Amino acid sequence: MTQSQDYLLGVNRQELERLQFQQSVWGHVTEKFFDRLHLQSNWKCLDAGAGPGLVAMDLRERLGKGCEITALEPSEFYLKWFQAESEKRGWTNIRFIQGTAETADLPSQYYDFIFSRWVIGFVPDPEKFLAGLIRSLRPGGIIALQDYIYEGLSLFPSGGAFDRMPDAVRAYWRTGGGDPYIASRIPMMFKKHGIQQIDFTPNCLAGGNTSNVMEWAHRFFITHTQMMVDKGVMTQREGDAMLNDWLAHRDNTDTLFLSPIVVDVSGKRL
Ligand SMILES: C[S@@+](CC[C@H](N)C(=O)[O-])C[C@H]1O[C@@H](n2cnc3c(N)ncnc32)[C@H](O)[C@@H]1O
Repeated sequence: MTQSQDYLLGVNRQELERLQFQQSVWGHVTEKFFDRLHLQSNWKCLDAGAGPGLVAMDLRERLGKGCEITALEPSEFYLKWFQAESEKRGWTNIRFIQGTAETADLPSQYYDFIFSRWVIGFVPDPEKFLAGLIRSLRPGGIIALQDYIYEGLSLFPSGGAFDRMPDAVRAYWRTGGGDPYIASRIPMMFKKHGIQQIDFTPNCLAGGNTSNVMEWAHRFFITHTQMMVDKGVMTQREGDAMLNDWLAHRDNTDTLFLSPIVVDVSGKRL
């Protein structure tokens, strides 16, 4: 995938709003990951596949005016949005690069910290994606990724049509050339590219029918179930049954929802 329009989840205002809500639900997980990495206030940081810069903004707030934050993102729409937000805040230490990790002309051995959340799982050649980033990391610098091992997604009481949703989502990911188990391959790729692993921490969020985590999943399923049908991952009948089961659980105060596993993976360049 070299063009943002090929990217499975699309780029538009509705997706931007979904990403903002997603950040409100998962941001604390990323914050804890950053706490463990002891980021320094004078570091040069790259957020690869920054989207509208939601994590980059948190990084800027965490590290202050002495750091340098670069957002690498193929979508002009997201970059412009982030640029406008940075201007509103009077931030002068944010850089913007429009492009992909595979093709952008990133400076060699430059960054102290490279972060990427929910991107490597979508790209058709994850090793190429990672190699592009590692080249621009200084020796001793840290690379940190958050992505799926798409297991764990579950809805209780179980036994309904939604039980087949994990398989459907995994198939959907693959239609876009991605890997729903990408986090499991990162340690192997780190080893091959001279990165010493620091962390491998799985995260799963859970909640009831009115929880934020269930609302987060809802905003995905309500749009993407039909897209899964349209891409031939399942029949219209199966898609409708899954969505109806999901909606019934949204009205059930005994519901328990578990998110898929998001793994924090980090390492240091040797
Ligand atoms: C699910 S969004 C995640 C955005 C952001 N990282 C976050 O966690 O809020 C994935 C982003 O990756 C971008 N993207 C897709 N392929 C990419 C690539 N090869 N290199 C860099 N970014 C890419 C997309 O345009 C999109 O903005």
